[in-house]
Amino acid sequence: MNRFSAIISTGSYVPEKVLTNFDLEKMVDTSDEWIQRRTGIIERRIADENMASSDLGIQASLKAIKDADIDPLEIDLIIAATITPDMVFPSTACFIQRALGAKNAGAFDLSATCSGFCYGLAVADGLVKSGINKTVLVVATDILSKITDWTDRTTCVLFGDAAGAAIIQPTTEEKGILASYLGADGNGAEIDLLSLPAGGSRYPSSHETVDKRMHYIRMNGQEVFKLGVRIMYEAAKEVLRRAGLTIADVDLFIPHQANIRIMEAVSERLGIASEKVYVNVQKYGNTSATTVIVALDEAIREGRVGPGDIVLFSTFGGGLTWGGTVIKL
Ligand code: ACO
Repeated sequence: MNRFSAIISTGSYVPEKVLTNFDLEKMVDTSDEWIQRRTGIIERRIADENMASSDLGIQASLKAIKDADIDPLEIDLIIAATITPDMVFPSTACFIQRALGAKNAGAFDLSATCSGFCYGLAVADGLVKSGINKTVLVVATDILSKITDWTDRTTCVLFGDAAGAAIIQPTTEEKGILASYLGADGNGAEIDLLSLPAGGSRYPSSHETVDKRMHYIRMNGQEVFKLGVRIMYEAAKEVLRRAGLTIADVDLFIPHQANIRIMEAVSERLGIASEKVYVNVQKYGNTSATTVIVALDEAIREGRVGPGDIVLFSTFGGGLTWGGTVIKL
C-alpha cells in the first residue's frame, strides 16, 4: 500500500463569454440588486452553443498535464465528474481521453452533482493507495447553461459553466489527500427538490417531457438552502475528524460555491475567519462539480496557498450528495 496520494498539479478553464446580472435583467423579471443580495453572484461564464462538457474538461486537463510535466500516456485512469455529459454514452471521460491522446487510461464518468469532485478525489485516492493506478486525472466539467430554464428566474440566475482538473500520484511523503468523507441521502431524490427529471430511463425524452420543461433543472431553493447549510457544516466537521485535525489547522476553506449566504453561514458555524474562506461565486456562479477545484486552482495560482498548507473542501448537491476532503498541498 502507498501511504499517500498527492495532488501533483491542478488546472481550470472557464469560457470567455460573460453573462452579467444586468444581462439577466433583460431576460427575466429580476435585478442585479436582488441577485447580489440573495446569492453574491455578479456574473457567470457561458459556454458557446457548440461546446460540450468534454471541450471544457479537455482545456482544464491540458493545463493540469502541462503543470505536472507528464506525458498523457502516463495517465492510467480518467474520472470525469459531470451532470452534463456530452451524451448519455459514450462517457465524457472517453471523449477527454481521446482528445488528450491518453490511450493507456481507463475512463469513466461519475455522477454526484455538486459533490462530484470530492467523490472523484476519494475514488482516485483509494485506487492510487491500493496500487491499482499510478496516475489518475480527476476532471470536473459542467455546462449547466445547457440544462437551465432561461425563463425561470428562480434558477437561471444561479448557474454557470466551468471545468477543473487535478493529477493524482502516489507519494511516500505525508501529504495529498489526508481524508475523505462521502455521504448521500436518497430521500432527497425528489423531482421537485433538486433534479433534472427527463432524458433518462424514467422519463425518456419525448415531446411531452419537452413541453413540460422536464429537461431543465428543477429546484426548491429555500429547502435546498437550509439543507445545504446543515450538510456542508456536518461534512466539514466529519472529514476534519477523520483527518485528525480541527478547523484551527485549516489554512484555506473552500466550500461549494452555490450561494454566498450558505458559505457565510457554514463558515460562521465552523468558526473560521472570513480571510481563510475562498469565495469566487461572484465571478462564476454555481458551476456544480467544478466549484472546489476551480477555486483551488485559482488559490494556488494567486499564491493564497502553497506547499504544506491544509485545504478543506465541503460540498453539497442534488441526490442528495455531500462530500468533504482534507488536502495537504
Ligand atoms: N429575481 C427577483 N426575485 C426573485 C428571483 C429573482 N431571480 N427569484 C426568486 N425571486 C422572488 C421569489 O419569487 C420570492 O418572491 P415572493 O416572496 O413574492 O414569493 C422572493 O424572491 C423570495 O424567494 P425565495 O426563494 O424565498 O428567496 P431566497 O432568499 O431563498 O433565495 C435562492 C433564493 C437564491 C435560490 C436560495 O434559496 C438559494 O441559493 N438556494 C440554494 C440553491 C443551491 O444551493 N443549489 C445548489 C444545488 S445545484 C445542483 O445540485 C446542480
